[in-house]
Amino acid sequence: MTDATLWTNTNERYGAVEKLFHWTLAVAIITMIPLGIVANRIAHSEGVLTGADAGAVAQAAFLFSIHKTLGVLIFIVALARVLWSLATPRPAPLHPDRRVETWLAKTVHLLLYGSLILVPLTGWITHSAASGFAPIWWPFGQDLPLVPESPRVEHVAASLHILFERVLAVALVLHVAGALKHRFVDRDATLQRMTPGQPAVPPLPPHRRSWAAPAAALAVWALALGAGAALGLYRTEGAVASAPALETVASDWTVTEGTLALTVTNFGNEVEGSFGDWQAAIAYDEGTGTGDVTVTIATGSVTLGGVTDQARGPDFFDVPGFPTATFAAGIAPAAAGEALPDGTPATHVADGTLTLRGAEVPVALPVLLEVSDGTARMRGAVTVDRRDFAIGAGYEDEATVGFPVVIAVELTAERTE
Ligand code: HEM
Ligand code: HEM
Repeated sequence: MTDATLWTNTNERYGAVEKLFHWTLAVAIITMIPLGIVANRIAHSEGVLTGADAGAVAQAAFLFSIHKTLGVLIFIVALARVLWSLATPRPAPLHPDRRVETWLAKTVHLLLYGSLILVPLTGWITHSAASGFAPIWWPFGQDLPLVPESPRVEHVAASLHILFERVLAVALVLHVAGALKHRFVDRDATLQRMTPGQPAVPPLPPHRRSWAAPAAALAVWALALGAGAALGLYRTEGAVASAPALETVASDWTVTEGTLALTVTNFGNEVEGSFGDWQAAIAYDEGTGTGDVTVTIATGSVTLGGVTDQARGPDFFDVPGFPTATFAAGIAPAAAGEALPDGTPATHVADGTLTLRGAEVPVALPVLLEVSDGTARMRGAVTVDRRDFAIGAGYEDEATVGFPVVIAVELTAERTE
């Protein structure tokens, strides 16, 4: 035997590189499955979903960061393994005459190879589509390119991640059962071929290629995807509870379109969200440039990246306790030098009181307001401190949930006839 055959595979045996790949990935994957299940169980526990148990939130984030970091490393090693397996021969089966067994073993091998890519990839897509929860501990960026930040993509990818992981788990059980059967029933060298050392293996007829195993592996994935669809795993309706609609308010100006957005920092990442349901009663005199505005917000209409449920929970907006928030302010021309957070000079300031979670806090919102032909366009933004409203009181530390919250409003209003 030459040195090269120790490293590379031959028709009869596995080389050292293949063995190293095999056992590194086997140990890593066998660690990942319970880690994912435990992390997910904590993440979906009552205390985390409501945001009430800050300790459990931190624990779930910690376990998920380990899960994702190890998972991304597995993904990279798996890609290298797949490339290596294309570059080196596949050792032939020891009993090629056992057609069904050989076909089953190959199908399971292909399912394992595919899972090594599909499982971490869908996990990473889930992470990329979500915002602001449990970072990957590495300096090379968090998100895969081309994956939009979207709760729908996140939900579908998470469902696929779990589905493909179940296929992996079943394949693994069959694979280990096969290895043990060879070891203890057939008493052949199959398992020893994959462990350190080189058992004596007689020359074998070369590997026969066939489409039966790849076709069977594809059929298993198709079946798993079909079962996922039948179980409704990819559906997102109902995943985000709808909020009760606010009554329409009478106003001199009718808001025709608008957004009320908020940005918070969660685990060092910016998470953007918005309120879907809010009303503004506006009185404004173009002659004097003054007026007043009352904005009523249904707190239950908030969506906030992957942490919407927490945001609605008792430690944050506490929707059942405080279903509405209001901002009542007088509008007056801005003094020279007043500006929006992005530096745009403000034309007006809406100076008033923000009532949120029972706390009344003075807030001056600098805005850029332009009125022409009975249409008003306004945008403004202000940074508030969540602690002023006792929001996230259990999160005393800025590392999990940052103190500043940026509230940004943008609207177009028509003068009511
Ligand atoms: C998640 C963990 C595992 C993965 C992803 C995995 C994956 C694979 C793959 C893809 C092959 C085929 C290599 C080829 O192309 O020829 C293989 C072969 C093998 N694996 Fe695993 N494996 C895992 C765990 C295990 C465990 C726990 C055992 C032992 C109990 C084991 C025993 C073997 C043996 C004996 C072979 C050689 C089979 C043969 O010669 O036909 N594997 N494994
Ligand atoms: C081979 C690698 C991986 C394996 C075996 C694996 C396995 C698992 C398992 C078993 C679960 C729990 C499923 C359940 O609760 O039933 C899970 C959940 C999760 N994993 Fe992984 N994972 C892997 C890689 C990754 C990677 C690379 C990421 C992200 C970068 C990731 C992100 C997640 C997320 C976000 C969840 C929660 C899904 C949800 O919201 O329901 N995983 N994973």
